[in-house]
Amino acid sequence: MQTTLITTVLAIFYLGVSAEPEFLYKQFRDPERDVFHYGKFPSDFAWGVATASYQIEGAWNEDGKGPSVWDTFAHTPGKTHLNQTGDVTCNSYHKIEEDVKNLQELGVNHYRFSLSWSRIMPKGTPDVINPAGVKYYHDLIDALLAANIQPMVTLFHWDLPQPLMDIGGWENELMHAIFVAYADFCFQEFGGKVTKWITFNEPTVFTVFGYEIGYHAPGMTHLGWGAYRAGHVVLKAHATAYHLYDKKYRPLQHGIVGITLHSRWYEPKSDSEADREAAKRAITGELGWFAHPVFLTGDYPEVAKKLIADKSRAVGLTSSRFPEFTEEEKLMLKGSADFFGLNHYSTSYIEHKADTSLIPNIMADLDYKATEDDSWDRTGSWWLRPVPWGLRKNLNWIKDTYGDIPVYITENGMSENDGPMRLDDMDRVTYYRAYINEILKAQQIDGVNLKGYIAWTLMDNFEWAEGYNERFGLFHVDFEDPQKPRRPRASAKAFAEIIKNNGFLKPNEKSEL
Ligand SMILES: *[C@@H]1O[C@H](CO)[C@@H](O)[C@H](O)[C@H]1NC(C)=O
Repeated sequence: MQTTLITTVLAIFYLGVSAEPEFLYKQFRDPERDVFHYGKFPSDFAWGVATASYQIEGAWNEDGKGPSVWDTFAHTPGKTHLNQTGDVTCNSYHKIEEDVKNLQELGVNHYRFSLSWSRIMPKGTPDVINPAGVKYYHDLIDALLAANIQPMVTLFHWDLPQPLMDIGGWENELMHAIFVAYADFCFQEFGGKVTKWITFNEPTVFTVFGYEIGYHAPGMTHLGWGAYRAGHVVLKAHATAYHLYDKKYRPLQHGIVGITLHSRWYEPKSDSEADREAAKRAITGELGWFAHPVFLTGDYPEVAKKLIADKSRAVGLTSSRFPEFTEEEKLMLKGSADFFGLNHYSTSYIEHKADTSLIPNIMADLDYKATEDDSWDRTGSWWLRPVPWGLRKNLNWIKDTYGDIPVYITENGMSENDGPMRLDDMDRVTYYRAYINEILKAQQIDGVNLKGYIAWTLMDNFEWAEGYNERFGLFHVDFEDPQKPRRPRASAKAFAEIIKNNGFLKPNEKSEL
């Protein structure tokens, strides 16, 4: 009922009637917090959309590409929604021109995409290079630059070459050196044209889902330690790749290197001291698991170290399930990023919950439980309720904790479930306007050093274990049609309008363009 009303109000706004809604999500109605803020971002603000290789490229075994853990996982019956795979997906391997045209239609000045490691190195190591794969990325980058769109390249967005999983994947210490060799090749090959690099995408997600609960590739279920061990190697690989770039490539290529971390905002469920402490532990322990080593101390957050060590001791282990860095590693990690990439989608309420019977994982280890508010709208993903003010709080927490580090929102967006084609996605329009409005407040009112906003995602694609059942695209993709046609949704037009205005004009203000 309420959603319909908001949608109607927005629809009127978009038809050109100057009735800007004062509140985008009425159910939150905190007049101080939720009032709409008009204004512009700095003139050099980065606007973009993001994708990931396995989710859009298809051509899984073409032109010399080797298999990745996602090929293996999705080809295993029972692992994904309706056993769907990314074998073809959006077929972007064959659609550079069309994808770049759609990026131009949005008016973005950045495109964040990832390299398929096994398309470049079929075995995962630089002794075998696949020239066709290297050429594909050169062609894509050249097409972007010709369209005045800056590439922002993610080195690792989850599709690890299968031969590297055959030696244990990220739980094997050797991966530290192997990743650095891969990064070295990519910096050398593409760094003349690419000046914004992201080493890893969402290490909390791929280590917990991939190495601890088995919900994602490679499907390992090493409960209590798999994610910590894999994450430990990932952090060292990140830091060494950063320093390699800093010393060997930066003087010539003048680029920047960061890491993208996923975070929800964690709001205390009640005003009790226990819940407030639990929320603090949740954000510090979970986001800080990867952010503290890179952006603060060179080491894991004390609260996580202590709790995991205590819990390990309590069950008779002689050392903590949480690995430790050497002093040398801490020095290497501390300050090993030029920017903070934040992927943010939603917020949870956090309550204190200490239950020693739980199977250990990051949540159980940190003694908290997360829930959602029933009054928050639903989307196509159970974990994604639109709570725009949570992003502003998350950004402020990052500023208060890590200081004046440049921040890019590297993903933010909203899903719907598969069904009849829906181009009139006013709920997604509302989501983007509300969330982007919150980052404008964070930038202008709170002084967060925000450099850019990259939406997830350019077009519907293969949403990992959810297959094609969760659509996040600004462009709709018809996966039934072999041509995989893309069609702009209302949200694509609304996002283009925000980019054109570089923010939000007052209802009576005319666009300068
Ligand atoms: C997917 O694979 C599982 C396991 O083999 C099977 O039980 C199920 O019927 C398959 N689903 C579809 C839609 O093919």
